[in-house]
Amino acid sequence: MSNMTNAVNAAEAVNVINATKVTNAANVTNAANVSNIHKAACESKPKVVLAYSGGLDTSVAVKWLQEHYGFDVIACCIDLGETKDHKLLEERAARAGAAKTIIIDAKAEFAHEYILPALKANALYEGKYPLSTSLGRPLIAKKLVEIAKQEGAAAIAHGCTGKGNDQVRLEVGISSLAPELAIIGVIRDWGMSREEEIQYAEAHGIPIPVKKDNPFSIDANIWGRACEGGVLEDAGVEPPEAAFSLTKAPAESPDEPEYVDIEFIQGCPVQLNGQAMDLVALIETLNEIGGRHGVGRIDHIESRLVGIKSREIYENPAAVILINAHKELEHFTLPRDVTEFKAIIDQRFTQMIYDGLWFSPLTAALQAFIQQTQHHVTGKIRVKLYKGSQTVVGRWSDYSLYQRGLATYSMENTFDHNAAVGFIKLWGLPSQVYAAAHKHPVDRSWRDHTWPNHLQQNSGEDVLLNLPKSS
Ligand code: ARG
Repeated sequence: MSNMTNAVNAAEAVNVINATKVTNAANVTNAANVSNIHKAACESKPKVVLAYSGGLDTSVAVKWLQEHYGFDVIACCIDLGETKDHKLLEERAARAGAAKTIIIDAKAEFAHEYILPALKANALYEGKYPLSTSLGRPLIAKKLVEIAKQEGAAAIAHGCTGKGNDQVRLEVGISSLAPELAIIGVIRDWGMSREEEIQYAEAHGIPIPVKKDNPFSIDANIWGRACEGGVLEDAGVEPPEAAFSLTKAPAESPDEPEYVDIEFIQGCPVQLNGQAMDLVALIETLNEIGGRHGVGRIDHIESRLVGIKSREIYENPAAVILINAHKELEHFTLPRDVTEFKAIIDQRFTQMIYDGLWFSPLTAALQAFIQQTQHHVTGKIRVKLYKGSQTVVGRWSDYSLYQRGLATYSMENTFDHNAAVGFIKLWGLPSQVYAAAHKHPVDRSWRDHTWPNHLQQNSGEDVLLNLPKSS
C-alpha cells in the first residue's frame, strides 16, 4: 500500500486528471486511490457505490459523481431502523440519475452483531451516549464494501462532513475491509455551500427534498436518535421540544408509572414482560414504551474524535433501559473484582467504537474478554418507568451472588460476626504500620488549596461576581 502511495506523485495525479476528466483528484482520500479511479475510469463505465440517504446532499452527490468522475452511480441505503419510505428513496435516487438503487434491511445484523456487544459492554461514551450512530457506521461500511465487490465498483462515496466522526468511522471501516477501494468524501471535496448545492440541484433537475422546517441535523436507527445544529449550538439553551421525536416530554408523560420486566440469558435480552421476542422487536418495543414515559433524553457536550466539543441531543429509550438493566444484572451475578475490572475494559471498548476502530484487533480482544464475563449474566430485571426516569426496582437470578442469609440483619443471619474482628486487624495493618512510622500519617498540605484562594472560606460571592454574564 505505501509503495503504491509513493508511486502516485503529483505528476501522475495530473495525468489522471487529464485522462479521466477528474478535476478534483487531489482531494480523493487516499492518493493511492487515484490510480484505482484512473484504472476504473479507463474502463467503459466505472462504478461507484454511494452511501445514499435520500437527502439533498447525497442526491446532489449522485449527479456530481457522474459529472465529475464519469461514474455510474449505485445508490445504496442501509436501513438500520430509521423509518424511511423505500419506494420514495428509490424514486429520488433514480431522478437524481442513479444507475441502480440498492436498499438493504440490516436491522437484525445491526442488533445482533453491533448493538448486543455494546450492550454487554454497558457502552456509554463519556458516561452518557449509547453510541447509536457510532455503532451503525462499521456495519454500513461493511455493507458498502460487500456491494462494491458484488457490483465490481472501483470506489465508495459518502456524504459525511469534514468535521464529524462519521467520515472517520466509515473510511477506516472501508479501508480495514477493502484497502483496494477508493473512497470519495463528496461533501469535503466539492466545496459547495448549501446555496450552491441547491442551485446545482435546480440546474440538474434534482428534486430537493421538502424541508419540514426542521433546522436540525438528524441521524437515527433502532438504537436511538441524534439531533444537532440550529439553536442547540448554544450550549446554554434548553433543547426545544422540536428537537425530540422518539420521546414524550416527561411533564406530558403518563401520571402512572409503568413496569417492564426484562429477561436476560447470558447477557442477551430475550424476553420483555414475559414474552419472548427477537432482538429487533424487543428494542423497538422498548423504544415505544420508554419513549411514552419520556425516558432516554440525553443532552451531551461531546468530545469528538476530530478534536472539537459539540453539543448533541440524543433519544435512546431502549438503550438506556437495557444498559441500566444489564449492568444491574451483572452486579447481581458477578464478583466485585470482575465488575470493577470489566468497567475498565468496557470503557476502552466503548472508546474503540466511538473512535471508528470497530474492525481493529484490540476491539476483538476486548470483546472476547467481555463475552467471557457473560456466562452467568442470566436473570430478570424489573424497571420502573416514570416521568423521564427509569429505575431498577427488582432483580431475580438463579446465579445471584446476593445471599439473603449473609446480608440480613434478622434472626436468619448466617454471617460470622466474630470473623470480622480478625479481618479488620489484618485489613488495617498496613495503615497501622504507616502511622507508627511517620509523625504525620499522610501529608495533606494540598488542603490549603481546596477552596479558591481569593475567597473567604464558605463564600461563593466572588466567584459568582466574576462569572461571565449569562444572556
Ligand atoms: N455525535 C454522534 C457521533 O459521533 C452522532 C452524530 C450523528 N449525526 C447527526 N447528524 N446528529 O456518534
